[in-house]
Amino acid sequence: MGEQKSLLEVSDLRVSYGRIEAVRTLSLKVGAGEFVGVIGSNGAGKSSTMRAIAGSVPPSGGRIEFKGADVTSLPSYEKVARGIAMVPEGRMIFGNQTVRDNLLLGAYTRIGHDKAGVAEDMERALSLFPRLRERLEQLGASLSGGEQQMLAIARGLLSRPKLLVIDELSLGLAPKIIEQIFPILIDLNRQGLAVLLVEQMASYALAVTQRTYVMENGSILLEGPSQELATDRRVLDAYLGRRH
Ligand SMILES: Nc1ncnc2c1ncn2[C@@H]1O[C@H](COP(=O)(O)OP(=O)(O)OP(=O)(O)O)[C@@H](O)[C@H]1O
Ligand SMILES: [Mg+2]
Repeated sequence: MGEQKSLLEVSDLRVSYGRIEAVRTLSLKVGAGEFVGVIGSNGAGKSSTMRAIAGSVPPSGGRIEFKGADVTSLPSYEKVARGIAMVPEGRMIFGNQTVRDNLLLGAYTRIGHDKAGVAEDMERALSLFPRLRERLEQLGASLSGGEQQMLAIARGLLSRPKLLVIDELSLGLAPKIIEQIFPILIDLNRQGLAVLLVEQMASYALAVTQRTYVMENGSILLEGPSQELATDRRVLDAYLGRRH
């Protein structure tokens, strides 16, 4: 793991909203093809970190490198073009557009000049999530929460990412749906896609990821192999609901 070349390298990141400092001097790495988790309590700054990585909020300090290039302040469409796709908290599906159009939004940088490639990627995404195929012409708003999450992931895949950033995969979803989606992510990761997953359900995150960062108050409190953190007393007490 330690020998993996870093795909994403975040150093001393700061994110502020006016006077609120949501992230302060946060550093994290994701290796090529790695599956990395981020856990932490509400308001710890997880979403702010992911938004900065994806380019939807500008960092107020620090550096973000992707594939060795400085991408710190690039807007999200340029980060998408370089291979960073984001599944945002709340999924951000367009309710008044069809599932097909929501999916195609993921490919908007290529749609004009690579129709065949986009069709191929669409086919691949639909074979991962067959429920979406049956619903291609339905409006986004008509999908269940689980289907909307599948759509948000599929839309991300349509940009052919090297890194998929997912903010709160399981939020509001039934365990049965969560257990359908995780194996798909694990498969995608085995095929070489790096995944950075923010997950409120720490037990899931620790079970599927290779390494995990624990965030508190805008920075990293702990990090390590997920298997080790799963038995760390501090993690057990704070995030796995164990009492002793
Ligand atoms: N758009 C915003 N404007 C002002 N403050 C914000 C904004 N977004 C987040 N914050 C603040 O920044 C801090 C970190 O929020 P953030 O959403 O990044 O945390 P989080 O770890 O994702 O929390 P949660 O687990 O609830 O999703 C919080 O204090 C929050 O109130
Ligand atoms: Mg959040």
